[in-house]
Amino acid sequence: MSQTAELTLGGKSYELPVIEGSEAEKAVDISKLRGASGLITIDPGFKNTGSTQSAITFLDGEKGILRYRGYPIEQLAEKSNFIEVAYLLVHGELPTQEQLSAFEGSITEQNDIPEEVKTILEGFPKSAHPMGVLSAVISALTAFYPEALNPNPTKEEADKLINGLIGKLPTIISWAYKMAKGESTVAPSKEDDYCTNFLKVMFSKEGEDYKVDPVVVDALNTLLILHADHEQNCSTATVRVVGSSHASLYSAISAGVSALWGPLHGGANQAVIEMLEAIKEDGGDTKKYLAKAKDKNDPFRLMGFGHRVYKNFDPRARIIKKSCDEVLAALNINDPVLDIAKGLEQEALNDEYFKARNLYPNVDFYSGIIYRALGLDVELFTVMFALGRLPGWIAQWKEMREDNAPIGRPRQVYTGATERDYTEVSAR
Ligand code: MLT
Repeated sequence: MSQTAELTLGGKSYELPVIEGSEAEKAVDISKLRGASGLITIDPGFKNTGSTQSAITFLDGEKGILRYRGYPIEQLAEKSNFIEVAYLLVHGELPTQEQLSAFEGSITEQNDIPEEVKTILEGFPKSAHPMGVLSAVISALTAFYPEALNPNPTKEEADKLINGLIGKLPTIISWAYKMAKGESTVAPSKEDDYCTNFLKVMFSKEGEDYKVDPVVVDALNTLLILHADHEQNCSTATVRVVGSSHASLYSAISAGVSALWGPLHGGANQAVIEMLEAIKEDGGDTKKYLAKAKDKNDPFRLMGFGHRVYKNFDPRARIIKKSCDEVLAALNINDPVLDIAKGLEQEALNDEYFKARNLYPNVDFYSGIIYRALGLDVELFTVMFALGRLPGWIAQWKEMREDNAPIGRPRQVYTGATERDYTEVSAR
């Protein structure tokens, strides 16, 4: 028996359908409310508003649950690898060995980008933030691959486009990174796995035999898996809205990169390290900074704590913290910033002020420390978030297109001047 909700206003009642998902989540369907009543709802930031039904990622903020296509993130982070998880997100099921080989082969086969992209990259000042460069170059790919503009690709054409973008991102990132440093770029490997290739194109130098540490490859797989999708977050919602106009996949992903760049979203991992560095420079007194975070008159904000949907802990933070310890131990790195991070975490976890406000470490709190240990510049941390989130964005774009979703076009409540006549204040 399907449930309904009743809205009563001005002596009139409106019956609204209630939908229920596979995890017993319920929503009032208001898609016909305006036609029936002239009313709309309003919900700045969409904190209580669902934009879609989706079968990709389930999270429960109260219980700290995160699953991709039903598989718990803890199991995927421990047992799977990033490309297998990318296949799971995009296609809905874990691949057979044959499907995985074909998927990985198509990604590797398409990991080159046109030499002309170097001309575009040379146009950026070396100080350009890599997220702005990444968004621009992804959008520019439509110039080199105009087939991406086809709003109705066949399955084979869409798969090729999707695999190609997954393959090209490490190359774009590494070329932008190396050219900004004045280093020679490295051609992507046609033999190595995805994470090994990424580390090689990023860190190997001409004439050097760069050895990839298997611990680092493992940590990178874990980090990218943990960032791969997160239901309707800001950047994913952006990808869906841009894609709903039938703009190209490249345009939608480019917009997602721009949305992720913000310090309230993916840019938080960069802001966390900058905060920890500032605390270290100021003597490392974590108690002093926790007091500043509680002081309403103090502009200091504790970055990497709290989350819009997780009301207890971010399950990804627990996994990343373990990986962080392993990477630093394996690389024999003694990072005072990590000590400061652990001090902040322990004190905050035992402080009623933070516990009462559900301010627990989130995925951004520890990810920056691992990226730093891997030798990445702080401005690349959000780029790493984008690399991990790419298959999630793609899966959400694909689901939106396959569902024939309507163009995203919210309504509003107007609060400006009512009608008035124009009076000339100056002769034309
Ligand atoms: C994410 O993974 O996208 C971030 O945790 C932000 C969010 O989910 O709102």
